Amino acid sequence: MVFDVLRATSSMLTGLAHGATEIHPVCTIDEALALRQRLPDAVLGGERNGDLIPGFDIGNSPLEYRESVAKRRIITTTTNGTVALRACDLADRVLVGALLNIGALAVELRAKAPKKVVLVCAGTFETFALEDAYAAGALIGELGTVTMTDAALTVRTLAVAHPEPLAALRKARNGQALAASGRIADVEWCAQLSKYNVIGHMSAGVIRPLNE
Ligand code: MLT
Repeated sequence: MVFDVLRATSSMLTGLAHGATEIHPVCTIDEALALRQRLPDAVLGGERNGDLIPGFDIGNSPLEYRESVAKRRIITTTTNGTVALRACDLADRVLVGALLNIGALAVELRAKAPKKVVLVCAGTFETFALEDAYAAGALIGELGTVTMTDAALTVRTLAVAHPEPLAALRKARNGQALAASGRIADVEWCAQLSKYNVIGHMSAGVIRPLNE
């Protein structure tokens, strides 16, 4: 399970919820451009330093992933989120998580009851990001009695201490940076708990809605 709540995985889930058929997360701008040559109808999205990449169709605001994505593929490259996802290429099963789909993720995990779940928090560059840990903790809180590592217990405690997701995201360094750059609407969007039932499932580097 990979979380990049502000904003990569929230944007991907918003795209899937608005009818995108596939999301191709790639690590570099060059990879994104090369893939677009092969998939010329795909929407090309992503960010560097939070901003639209020159020549790309959309940036990394989840609000953009509601528009013109229905029945389309999306190629995206972001600083941390797409890199964290592709770092999980060899995992048995990779799901895309955000606060937006916590309820659906919990239902899925309770149903499948895997022996072990690794919650990957993408962070920011090389550092810890509160919002990803918060989402991981919120998910654990929905799972009932589970065996937790100390890290899982720590993020669970973080989520319990902040019952209001938007307040937690506003405290986060990324939340503050987005607000300072006029993107508080993105933070508000990403703070919505269980807005969607959609779960992204990545297989062979392509994310599709689970069970489709
Ligand atoms: C990332 O992948 O590092 C983030 O999603 C950056 C952003 O908020 O655009």
